[in-house]
Amino acid sequence: MVKIGVINVSDRASQGIYEDIPGKEAVRLMREYLVTEFEPVYHVIPDEQDQIEDTLKTLADEDGCCLVVTTGGTGPAVRDVTPEATEAVCEKMLPGFGDAMRAESLNIVPTAILSRQTAGTRGKCLIVNLPGKPKAIQECLEVIFPAIPYCIDLLEGPHLETNPDVLKAFRPKPK
Ligand code: MTE
Repeated sequence: MVKIGVINVSDRASQGIYEDIPGKEAVRLMREYLVTEFEPVYHVIPDEQDQIEDTLKTLADEDGCCLVVTTGGTGPAVRDVTPEATEAVCEKMLPGFGDAMRAESLNIVPTAILSRQTAGTRGKCLIVNLPGKPKAIQECLEVIFPAIPYCIDLLEGPHLETNPDVLKAFRPKPK
């Protein structure tokens, strides 16, 4: 079974002050996009860099997730450390993901410029940061998701098939 990690990074959600809406929204969207069945491996944790790094490592190395999406902690606030944790555990950074999300999001809200979201690979796992607002999650995920199945092909992960009526994955033709 394909496994996809979802980490809601939020002090307040991890204490039960907020409901975990962002993580659920990320799963809902990916279920809409993908016809490939997957098992979400789910975590809600505080904005603590060590804890984010440990959770990312567990999801990539032990659970064998081909993809991990994080929500929240990408902004400039003191407690926002998700991009730092991502960079610390990744071997290769893929800054195009953050660039694409910011470029598209800037057409929607001027404060998109505040998100430091990024992506990278750890072994065969692609890790992608999303902002924390459910609306922002949808706005960002639909921009980058078409490139994700091919990225996972290149990492020698499972073949992910999208529902073309909802979202078309792009796989370049072989040379
Ligand atoms: N991107 C999109 N598409 N839509 C949004 O509403 N909000 C921005 C930005 N990116 C937003 C967005 C705001 S207000 C902030 S502070 C940053 O994401 C960081 O959000 P985070 O700290 O929840 O990750």
